[in-house]
Amino acid sequence: MNSSPIVRKVSQVFSEQWGGTPLLARSPGRINIIGEHTDYNEGFVLPAAIDKSVYVAVGKRDDDRIELRALEFNDRYSTTVAEIAPRPGQWTNYILGVVAQFQKRGVEIGGFNLVIDGEVPFGAGLSSSAAVECATAFALNELFGWNVPREELIYIAQKAEHEYAGVLCGIMDQFASVFGKSGHVVRLDCRSMDYRYVPCDLGDYKLLLLNTNVKHSLSSSEYNVRRQQCEAGVSMVQERYPDVKSLRDVTVPQLQECVEPRDELIFRRCKYVVEESERLLEACADLERGDLVELGMKLYRTHRGLSEEYEVSCTELDFLVNSVRENDAVLGARMMGGGFGGCTLNIVRADAIDALVAELAPAYHAATGLELTPIVVTIGDGTSLA
Ligand code: GLA
Repeated sequence: MNSSPIVRKVSQVFSEQWGGTPLLARSPGRINIIGEHTDYNEGFVLPAAIDKSVYVAVGKRDDDRIELRALEFNDRYSTTVAEIAPRPGQWTNYILGVVAQFQKRGVEIGGFNLVIDGEVPFGAGLSSSAAVECATAFALNELFGWNVPREELIYIAQKAEHEYAGVLCGIMDQFASVFGKSGHVVRLDCRSMDYRYVPCDLGDYKLLLLNTNVKHSLSSSEYNVRRQQCEAGVSMVQERYPDVKSLRDVTVPQLQECVEPRDELIFRRCKYVVEESERLLEACADLERGDLVELGMKLYRTHRGLSEEYEVSCTELDFLVNSVRENDAVLGARMMGGGFGGCTLNIVRADAIDALVAELAPAYHAATGLELTPIVVTIGDGTSLA
């Protein structure tokens, strides 16, 4: 049995509450090196699973009840298989949304007990929600023996987010959580779903996350607005270029021709996405060549695009990126994930991390009144039994 304290805890709580030995599963959070807001535009992304996971303990019941306990929120919820429904803003959505998706696929689901706890910081842009969905989907699939393939579990998790949490997310987070591989990033083509593992060898450098501790409350509504804006841009281009299916197929000159004269805001949004898709492919080549200087510069360019054109950053994220820009030990930095809070991703020389944090944390607190939480990232494996 896994000796990690968090696994022991969910298992113990489960056994004390309901008796018996639960099935234990885990699914990790994720980072993304580059390729932000490209997944739902059928572009590429370059994520990796992190070494922090969400853990679930599950067991079957003899009746049709679903009993849930979330240790992190010290909360519980009880319903039945027939009565599950979304509850705005509640943690239960990420679990019951998955149950609903299995039901839609026509599998026979009985009652079950579930205890959940996690070490992926909540609302930090590390996809704790995808980790919950994927851990739940994987665990229930094992528990009931449905044999749904992993490739399908990621769509079940994504649809749970769409239909129960109301966020029309792309596929990156769920894919990275399920298919992550230790020491590697995943170069995923979100159109064909072809992917390749790329070794993430940073030599003397490390990936440092700086958590703004700003919870992204705007993120779900604005996220859906960004999606609509991208679709509006595609429609305008399609009037002259009917073969175009998504921003993946569009060039900046086409945007200048078809969108800029009609809608400057939509133009800026789409231009960011088109440039980011191109930047990602070059960045991936930089990583494979070991050219971290070039890769780092692209991170800064991505941040500028996200902040000024796509407008999903916030003052705290901008403060952190601007504060490291002149630091020789930092090769690149940018906001990561959906935006409006969460973390910046920094490529920093390992021996300079302590000094950087010691200098930045008080400056950040003075500027924002918030604590700065540093997290050095290790790339871990995707979803598994725990
Ligand atoms: C969130 C979504 C992902 C992706 C990122 C932005 O994390 O869940 O699908 O769109 O934002 O890159």
